[in-house]
Amino acid sequence: MTTGVSNQEIHDLSNKLFSSILLEQQKYMAIKGPDEDKKHLSDSILQEYEQLKGRGFFFNYVSSGKGHGPFTELIDGSIKYDLIGAIGPNLLGHSHPLYIKAHLEAAASDVMMCGNLLTHKEAYNLSKEIIDSVKGSKLKHFWFSGSGSFANDTALKMLWQKKDPSHRLIAFEKAFAGRSIATQDITYNPDYRVGQPQTIEVDHVPHYDHSDPENAIKKTIDALDAVVKANKGQHCAIMLELIQGEAGFVYGTKEYYETVFKWAKEHDLYIWVDEVQSFGRTTELFAFQMFGLDEYVDVVTIGKALQACGTLFSEELNPKPGLVAGTFNGSLASLNAGQKVVHYLREGNFYGSDGRMKYLEDQFLNRLSVLSKGTCKGKIGYSGGVGTMISFEIGDSSKEITIKFVKKLYENGILSFMAGKEPTRVRFLLPTCLTDEHIEEIFKILIKTVEDVL
Ligand SMILES: Cc1ncc(COP(=O)(O)O)c(C=O)c1O
Repeated sequence: MTTGVSNQEIHDLSNKLFSSILLEQQKYMAIKGPDEDKKHLSDSILQEYEQLKGRGFFFNYVSSGKGHGPFTELIDGSIKYDLIGAIGPNLLGHSHPLYIKAHLEAAASDVMMCGNLLTHKEAYNLSKEIIDSVKGSKLKHFWFSGSGSFANDTALKMLWQKKDPSHRLIAFEKAFAGRSIATQDITYNPDYRVGQPQTIEVDHVPHYDHSDPENAIKKTIDALDAVVKANKGQHCAIMLELIQGEAGFVYGTKEYYETVFKWAKEHDLYIWVDEVQSFGRTTELFAFQMFGLDEYVDVVTIGKALQACGTLFSEELNPKPGLVAGTFNGSLASLNAGQKVVHYLREGNFYGSDGRMKYLEDQFLNRLSVLSKGTCKGKIGYSGGVGTMISFEIGDSSKEITIKFVKKLYENGILSFMAGKEPTRVRFLLPTCLTDEHIEEIFKILIKTVEDVL
């Protein structure tokens, strides 16, 4: 139990309800097609919803709120594998016991949300769990935000204040940093800011080039040297995703990052790592820990799998009063779940070379590699990724063929998504609960879909 009312009866009923909900959710454990009498439901709701929202949906997916592990049920009665987890948050899968427990515990509390003038123990518990998990670094504080984009805005404001008037930022080609007014300029893809005025000055440099690993460091360092030379003393920080999500999981090596970070320190720049998508999903809790970069990072943003969002920062970057504030930390259920999830991930066998994340990475990448050299030669090309972040290319890896594939895969029973532009990749953000039987079935569906599409 966390906060809220508690007595023996509440305790017993809550435990009973927990078991009933879990047993009921566990009935949704295998893929199936829609029910005849419900077939029309997704389309009819989405047509109306489209009118409200002002635009259409990529999949005709409306969840029924039922599903367990990797499975999600739609309101038309069909059940699919969910290998995208709402673009990240559902790292543990559907109706995980910790999520159910977090909801039930929050129901015993007095309000829905907690915030800066509404301090609840849930926010303290989650902050403590996160700060405990970055002990080997300079990160000493955590500030909540309502989204990953806003966590990034908060990081930028701290950096700007510290380095005022040096407000320019260095970011990386193919970066994605969110949808706020500041982060749309950090995001590399110009299609995401059509008609927008430029609000911050960002210099983009090339990220690690997998096709030319020997020259990757030189290419980035040359570009970094050029941007600081052209804008002397104007930069506050270098900002990057260590595993670029929207780019299709582009990432470098420890040596690459160390060289870039040493360069940044020599040039008196703060290092800001965006782990909104990678948090929890690589072979360590943080991707910067996986690469052994703890000593370098000054500010790190997280979200998605945390069930909440926020900014971790060093003592040096602690802003003056007035700069950061806001109404909400998050819902009590979310913050409660976030603390439980992080604790579970830290205590369980998830990370390291023998952990669950590495196992899933190996299972998917080995199978994709075998297919690309064998029965799917010429149809599945590149495959790569880290931990539960897996991507691969289909056919000519154009946007058109990838959309066709992802839509067919959905029809055949798997939810996935795309990432990247020239090449476009199929993206999986896997749940940790996949069994070997699930993986076997997923690959059968994948092979069938390749045959259907190419
Ligand atoms: C790396 C990265 N940064 C920031 C964001 C923005 O997060 P949010 O959508 O919660 O604002 C995302 C979202 O996909 C992301 O992948």
